[in-house]
Amino acid sequence: MYPHCFLTLTLMITLLIPLATASATTNRYPGAWMPVNTSDPVVVEKGKWAVLEYNKKVTNKLVFQRVVSGETIYISGIFYGLVVAATNESLPNPPENYHAGVWAKFFEPLKLRTFYKGN
Ligand SMILES: *[C@@H]1O[C@H](CO)[C@@H](O)[C@H](O)[C@H]1NC(C)=O
Ligand SMILES: *[C@@H]1O[C@H](CO)[C@@H](O)[C@H](O)[C@H]1NC(C)=O
Repeated sequence: MYPHCFLTLTLMITLLIPLATASATTNRYPGAWMPVNTSDPVVVEKGKWAVLEYNKKVTNKLVFQRVVSGETIYISGIFYGLVVAATNESLPNPPENYHAGVWAKFFEPLKLRTFYKGN
């Protein structure tokens, strides 16, 4: 990491803490789960990524359909707990729900923490 990255990180943290406190009235503060907007492109992208990441480990791939619901919480970045509808390419069945935990830590690649089938 270059020195200016550390500066940016420090700056972001210093800015984020008061910002988060100031907007506590709208429930946007660290340590609280907030519902996601399932149409938000940023959220949809996380859902798609979770399915692609999961597909790296399986033979019969899943095909992303949409984000059904989800919540986020601030933990060294943003953790997305999403319910994603996906079809199994090897089956003619309608989409089924999968739970995906995607962690978008500051300045780190996305991490898929959990992925399992369930409603
Ligand atoms: C959800 O996100 C979509 C796409 O960005 C936007 O058009 C819509 O207004 C948002 N809905 C709410 C309730 O914020
Ligand atoms: C897709 O369906 C096949 C056949 O039932 C199953 O073996 C496979 O595990 C499924 N794939 C995923 C990713 O769940």
